[in-house]
Amino acid sequence: MESIEIEGGSPLRGEVEIGGAKNAVLPMMAASILVKGPVCIHNVPRLLDVINFLELLREMGVKGSYENHILHLDATNLISCKAPYEHVSKMRASIYVLGPLLARFGQAKVALPGGCAWGPRPVNLHQDAMIALGAELKLKHGDIVAKAKDGLKGNLIAFDISSVGATGNAIMAAVLADGTTVIENASGEPEMTALADFLIGMGARIEGAGTKTITIHGVSELKQDEPFKNIPDRIEAGTFLAMGAITGGDITVRNIRPDHLGMVISRLERMGCQLEMGEDYIRISVPPEGLTGVDIITEPYPGFPTDLQAQFLALLSLADGAGVVTETIYQDRFTHVPELQRLGAKITQSGNVASVTGVGRLQGANLRSTDIRASSALILGGLAAEGRTKISHIHHIDRGYESIEVKIAGLGGRISRVVDKDE
Ligand code: UD1
Repeated sequence: MESIEIEGGSPLRGEVEIGGAKNAVLPMMAASILVKGPVCIHNVPRLLDVINFLELLREMGVKGSYENHILHLDATNLISCKAPYEHVSKMRASIYVLGPLLARFGQAKVALPGGCAWGPRPVNLHQDAMIALGAELKLKHGDIVAKAKDGLKGNLIAFDISSVGATGNAIMAAVLADGTTVIENASGEPEMTALADFLIGMGARIEGAGTKTITIHGVSELKQDEPFKNIPDRIEAGTFLAMGAITGGDITVRNIRPDHLGMVISRLERMGCQLEMGEDYIRISVPPEGLTGVDIITEPYPGFPTDLQAQFLALLSLADGAGVVTETIYQDRFTHVPELQRLGAKITQSGNVASVTGVGRLQGANLRSTDIRASSALILGGLAAEGRTKISHIHHIDRGYESIEVKIAGLGGRISRVVDKDE
């Protein structure tokens, strides 16, 4: 087991490069199943989730190689339409293979993901979308067994809730379906627009990506002529911006899309951060008077992302005054709160609302990380705290952040990864 050790109190300074978006590349990897032929994606982050997804695809018979942030995939000779529980339980994004498998092969067997660290995470909308396109679904021994004997047929898919995952699955299933599909209340997340752009680049006919209504006219096959460049990771970008702010530093976060960070920028500005922006960078610094508390509500894009809620709760812990954080996407996503309290943060949680009263200082402590974003929030706390912080169960961080300790050390943070001897 590995831990991260931090000697807090150093303001971060300098420049950091952000990698490609995890939540865009995983559905693109699944979408490679739709293609009889090679597919290439650039700007692919070296993350455990990417490596695990590649492993799943390889088991299904996809040829794949990954080097220098470039991923080559070829699903021409797929041998299996199964995503077993051992993969799905490690990484819920495995559910993304459901739509592409049904679309190309008319069958799929995908383990039903269970809950996760912050409660139930249903996939009923994914299943409803497949049924709307004509598939028959049964649950057998914990697996979703799906069949579309005569192929998928375009239809209306109207989601009750705007879901990123279900929208991705519906898009991928519909691109090869017979006829036209209209997805209502679709996710407008930039990662779904990127998925649509990736598919359009291979001949898919998709209109309205990035809006609430996406229309897809089925085509008979997809073929890639040019490699696709993945979008930057807005969550990694937001995490580093919060790190610059919480340490009272002055950092430039490069290789990003500021236009994907509208609500994050607005909250940072309201807290008093000084931001300077260009087309692909943001420089952040904090004035001598420090930061002020703000309220945050997580919502589907363009609202404030749930994946930055934990990091901003850490940031608000040191702001002057109060802030209220309301989590509307995953109501129980607060496993980081008791850990931040161990650093001295004043947070009270009731249901899906966490109220923070800023304190003058945090003190280093031993902490335990519970999921990807909670881990990064604890790193933020540790960087700002006085003294030493040790964060255990840090393997979660490698699912979503490439070499985070190397990037932070490059900004002057005193951080290292240690292997715990007695485990
Ligand atoms: C969600 C986030 C995504 C984030 C990811 C991991 C949103 C809209 N989505 O994506 O940004 O990267 O967590 O942290 O912010 N739901 C159902 N049935 C379904 C699918 C979803 O009821 O079949 C509900 C969920 O419980 C949730 C909401 O719909 O309340 C949005 O879910 P969805 O976007 O699908 O979740 P993820 O894809 O996990």
